[in-house]
Amino acid sequence: MAEPAPRVQRGLEEVVALESRICFIDGKLGRLIYRGYDIRDLAANATFEEVAHLLWYGRLPNAKELAELRARLGALRTLPDGLVRLIDSLPTDASPMDVLRTAVSALALFEPTETKPGAGAIAGAERLTAALPTILGLFQRRRAGLPKLAPRPELSAAAYLLYALLNRDASTLEERALDVALILHADHELNASTFAARVTASTLSDLYSSVTSAIGALKGPLHGGANERAIELADQIGSPDRAEAIVKEKLARHERIMGFGHRVYKVEDPRATILREWSRQIGEAKGDLRYYQILEQVRQVVHREKGLYANLDLYSGSVYTPIGIPKDLFTPIFAVSRVAGWTAHILEEYEDLRLIRPTAQYIGPLDLPWVPIAKRS
Ligand code: CMC
Repeated sequence: MAEPAPRVQRGLEEVVALESRICFIDGKLGRLIYRGYDIRDLAANATFEEVAHLLWYGRLPNAKELAELRARLGALRTLPDGLVRLIDSLPTDASPMDVLRTAVSALALFEPTETKPGAGAIAGAERLTAALPTILGLFQRRRAGLPKLAPRPELSAAAYLLYALLNRDASTLEERALDVALILHADHELNASTFAARVTASTLSDLYSSVTSAIGALKGPLHGGANERAIELADQIGSPDRAEAIVKEKLARHERIMGFGHRVYKVEDPRATILREWSRQIGEAKGDLRYYQILEQVRQVVHREKGLYANLDLYSGSVYTPIGIPKDLFTPIFAVSRVAGWTAHILEEYEDLRLIRPTAQYIGPLDLPWVPIAKRS
């Protein structure tokens, strides 16, 4: 008797693929934990650098360790001349996500040691985390026709990101808003891009190749790309009173509303709750609460009509746009933060290596007779 066909878990939904000590999501209670610490505590108290240390080294840094990490990251912001020339040669209308992916891949050619698989790859993790804002800043200046900026090693990760992109010092509120956004995006268990990174690392491929895979996965609109679409929707709506009609029309056409729904959370994404408050605070500080108010309306309509909850991608653009960050940099900023999580997972994969190689249930034909080319229609 033929064996029953195995059950296919499409999209690997609910498949537990590996053990990890990095990140825990309780989708029913809406909890997110990085190495034992609740995201709400981290967003209220930590800096991105502290969180990166926590993800990589498994514990919060003491004051000396944090100062040392900040100094190392600051020093690592300068890129090799060859990479700068490469970025200078890219089309100015390229997508910044494509630029990021290409630059990370190219950086491996200049830094064969940092990218090597194994425990030493922590140097590559710090390097990429320091380098990504510089790559984005260089490209942003190039496409705006502006001269290059020298890296500023003394700035925090959040302040440096803003400086590299906008060539100005961030206000205290802007720096903290960005710092919180970076903390919230830093890791999220086995999301698609982290899984892509771990699959690549599990072949014993190098760190930069693994991160290149992750950037490609993050780019898609069902993952990191959703944040750009969410702000496009808010722009299309234009004012809070138009939200209900426009959202209902979209739902009637069975369109997905970006920034809603989640594979794991069955309640509101705790990152969305935190970022919503920052959307309000930034809106208030800039004297324009339009995005916050529009997204509040959208949230209520989508929940009422579909029972769906917001995820963090709904709000990131409403924090970044009033600060002056262009829309096509939202997903790259996600990468600037998530690279800390990706690399923590890659390091974990190297420590407990097992080739990730699932199987497929074949549903095509078998035993077809060979047809010579002259006889094919
Ligand atoms: N808008 C409208 N309907 C939706 C949405 C949405 N955003 N999300 C899910 N649904 C509906 C979907 O149409 C389906 O309805 P039906 O059963 O009638 O066909 C039902 O909900 C289940 O959808 P699903 O695609 O099976 O759910 P999933 O667990 O595979 O999807 C998701 C998760 C994130 C891909 C999906 O919710 C989605 O496409 N959301 C919009 C994109 C988005 O916001 N992505 C960011 C995710 S969080 C941060 C990140 O990872 O980047």
